[in-house]
Amino acid sequence: MQILLTGGAGYIGSHTIIELDKAGHSVVVVDNLSNSSPVSLERVGEIIGKEVPFIKADVRDAAAMDKIFKQYRIDAVIHFAGLKAVGESVQKPLEYYENNMNATFVLVNAMRNNGCKNIIFSSSATVYGNPAIIPITEECPKGACTNPYGKTKSMLEEVLSDVQKADPEWNVVLLRYFNPIGAHQSGRIGENPNGIPNNLMPYITQVAVGRRQELGVFGNDYDTPDGTGVRDYIHVCDLAAGHVCALHAIERKCGLAIYNLGTGHGYSVLDVVNAFEKVNGVKVPYSIKPRREGDIATCYCNPAKAFKELGWKAQYGIEEMCRDSWNWQKNNPNGYEGA
Ligand code: NAD
Ligand code: UFG
Repeated sequence: MQILLTGGAGYIGSHTIIELDKAGHSVVVVDNLSNSSPVSLERVGEIIGKEVPFIKADVRDAAAMDKIFKQYRIDAVIHFAGLKAVGESVQKPLEYYENNMNATFVLVNAMRNNGCKNIIFSSSATVYGNPAIIPITEECPKGACTNPYGKTKSMLEEVLSDVQKADPEWNVVLLRYFNPIGAHQSGRIGENPNGIPNNLMPYITQVAVGRRQELGVFGNDYDTPDGTGVRDYIHVCDLAAGHVCALHAIERKCGLAIYNLGTGHGYSVLDVVNAFEKVNGVKVPYSIKPRREGDIATCYCNPAKAFKELGWKAQYGIEEMCRDSWNWQKNNPNGYEGA
């Protein structure tokens, strides 16, 4: 199939191109580079041995999107493009609602106008809020999201579900990602956050590489085995492979389908720090800080539905995730900057 990846220059998108290529699909990327570097695509090109067709454009630009659909015969879209920093979304709600909602409206409209009715959407475990059931199944009710970022994901799930309901020719796959970490084994592409990382793994790798002094562990008084927050970390290459499996669902005309993509295992912050130190033989100094606002104690999924219906299952464990995150960071101490 010919797949359009919006936001394909970003962390998850760049890894997904490789899996799509391996499976014999061809790709086109559209990205405005607001949170990514074109170097990621150059490096993906090196890995797959061919140039990645790339259009630098904003998904909110209706004319640019229409042109892409007219120029390429797109069979399906994987919609990664969006702003994703939880804390920033609290400071800049309008920017988040405007970007994430409008980009999706413009995209879906361009798809409809050009007869492409297959979409995979990057949703998030955040839609479960403080989950009512652990491990979280897809039947778990959606919860109250405490930040504008999470609300855009939850609302866009509703929007896309309504589009599919109104026209059953649409195939809409909502993928609820848990916590992607790790990097491609080549060490050539990986997560490249701007400024101070919000997420645990890039913070750990930046401490390990000497860019930051110590990790702050946000709370050790949660109701978890060691008191620190528990999450379902998933290797980004496993997550990328999940998109290829989701395309099979589209080929089978799935209508609306929702899947959790996680490993089903929960690791605490200190589990991750310990695994990282052990696997990589580096120290990660840390100190306990107050809880971070909006955090929950425990979040991990039951990934059985994705296995049953898509034949997808995560292959990598926490050791490989820690190894590959470090391999990327130590080979690229400043990410893509200066590359
Ligand atoms: P990322 O920021 O690395 O990639 C997103 C890409 O979208 C960036 O390259 C950015 O430049 C681009 N973009 C943003 N707005 C755009 C617009 N209007 N037009 C064109 N391009 C635009 O993020 P990621 O980690 O690769 O995440 C991909 C998707 O997965 C996002 O939708 C994110 O919300 C979702 N997600 C991520 C995580 C995570 O922890 N990384 C977890 C759950 C869901
Ligand atoms: N943590 C620290 N110190 C840090 C960063 C994080 O102790 O410097 C802790 C957090 O308190 C939490 C755990 O590490 O217990 C994971 O935190 P992350 O920020 O890495 O991830 P979250 O689970 O908070 O959120 C991430 C994404 C969201 C997404 C969610 C579920 O940021 O966008 O996963 O997919 F919605």
